[in-house]
Amino acid sequence: MMQPDVATANQPERVIVFDTTLRDGEQSPGATLTANEKLEVADALVALGIDVMEAGFPAASPGDFEAVRAIANRVKGVSVAGLARCNASDIERAAQAVRRAEAPRIHTFIATSDIHLKHKLRMERQEVLERIDHMVRFAKEFTSDVEFSAEDATRSDWDFLAQVFGAAVAAGATTLNVPDTVGYTSPVEYAALMEYLFEHVPEVEKAIVSVHCHDDLGMATANTLAAVRAGARQVEVTMNGIGERAGNTSLEEVVMALATRRDQFGGAVTRIRTDRLVPTSRLVSTLTGVPVQPNKAIVGANAFAHEAGIHQDGMLKERTTYEIMNPVDVGWEGTKLVLGKHSGRAGFRNTLHEVGIRLDEAQLNEAYQRFLELADRKKTVTAADLVALVSDQLEVADDPLQLVRWNASIGSGGPATGSIVIRYDGREIAGDGEGNGAVNALFQAIDAAVAIPCELEEYHVEAVTPGEDAQGQVRLRIRTGDQVYTGHGLATDVIEASARAYLAALSKVIQQEPTAMIPGPVSSVSRWA
Ligand code: KIV
Ligand code: ZN
Repeated sequence: MMQPDVATANQPERVIVFDTTLRDGEQSPGATLTANEKLEVADALVALGIDVMEAGFPAASPGDFEAVRAIANRVKGVSVAGLARCNASDIERAAQAVRRAEAPRIHTFIATSDIHLKHKLRMERQEVLERIDHMVRFAKEFTSDVEFSAEDATRSDWDFLAQVFGAAVAAGATTLNVPDTVGYTSPVEYAALMEYLFEHVPEVEKAIVSVHCHDDLGMATANTLAAVRAGARQVEVTMNGIGERAGNTSLEEVVMALATRRDQFGGAVTRIRTDRLVPTSRLVSTLTGVPVQPNKAIVGANAFAHEAGIHQDGMLKERTTYEIMNPVDVGWEGTKLVLGKHSGRAGFRNTLHEVGIRLDEAQLNEAYQRFLELADRKKTVTAADLVALVSDQLEVADDPLQLVRWNASIGSGGPATGSIVIRYDGREIAGDGEGNGAVNALFQAIDAAVAIPCELEEYHVEAVTPGEDAQGQVRLRIRTGDQVYTGHGLATDVIEASARAYLAALSKVIQQEPTAMIPGPVSSVSRWA
């Protein structure tokens, strides 16, 4: 049965894209974003064309509350959801956080499987039904748009689940979400569950049925699409599929499957601007520090690379022999827009708007200067270059540790040496180091200057665009005690990009733990004297 409906009354095949990159996605190990980074991702998601943005879990911490509030105050043209457990204080907190959104949504959830009821909630089924009734009604006092999720729905008793959703609709829920919280279901089973719910939930037609999958068995996208085929009209997804454990359903995969195989999914459509998928994926990856695997569908570096000779031959004769999507349509070739030195400030500003980046006048001036410098060194400046450049600038702007200059020398027959000068708290500090390569030597030099005990856990380097003159982008993760911090750096030289990334991560440590920096045996400005 096709889902009728509420938000999609005039277009029953329209699928609502509910993005939870900033909530479930941010729960990826090590993916924590700063408040400014969240705003940047939020702007990019709006430009991408999502319908609902789950901005966070306001009751989780004061920082989460503030971030949701700031996003709700800022973004336009989308609904902003705050997550809340099914209790009054969480719901009040979520309501306060999304209060000023153009279209506020409260998303409340409670577990419904017997495993969760017995071991986690220690509640009887009847109590759960009563809680849902009270809390959905309570949430409705703050906003008409209330989503209810039955956590661990796919391991819940179907008959009880129908009662649960019936109670939620009767109390006024406008969206009923059926999470596969532990990534356990399969496409056939999930579609059958959808059909069962459409048949057995009283007044189901008063709400949108939504799906939310995790990828523990690698079936999140398949399960989500099976549910859409069965009539679900909201998909809960994250950019690059980031999220708890193995991740959530990936936005780009679902959107492109619907766009490419409309025939398979009852003509279901989204309003995503598909040519923004790649730039948005890059932004999220850069800011979260979670790399995109090269063979990732749609947005992976190799997603449109043809290596085998026989494929290359076919491609040269006719692209569609081996390509089911046009890379331009998902933002790959489209990233080759763009600008040259003569495009001027107005052209530069327009292009930034195009990729969903908003800057104030001072930030725009600085970005424009950096763009002119880049255009001197690089033949074509693409959208991907711009996204990388501006995210780097915004991230670095308030960092306590600023790179002033660096030097590294390497050759055969001896260790590499590195020297660094950093601006910190209005003065310059310096350090020297030796290592088994230029990057290592420079990191040792930074350690000598900054003296924050930490371990380097992950280090990735990649080119922002193809070509010899591409900018190098480094993402890394460090650990101090039980805290992890990510940093990214951008430069046409990967050694400099590495130093910038390391300083960005160390800056986060200082911001979080102002006493972390041990004034060390520093400031031997030897190599600079
Ligand atoms: O996976 C899950 O069950 C969730 C809910 C809170 C919707 O993320
Ligand atoms: Zn989830």
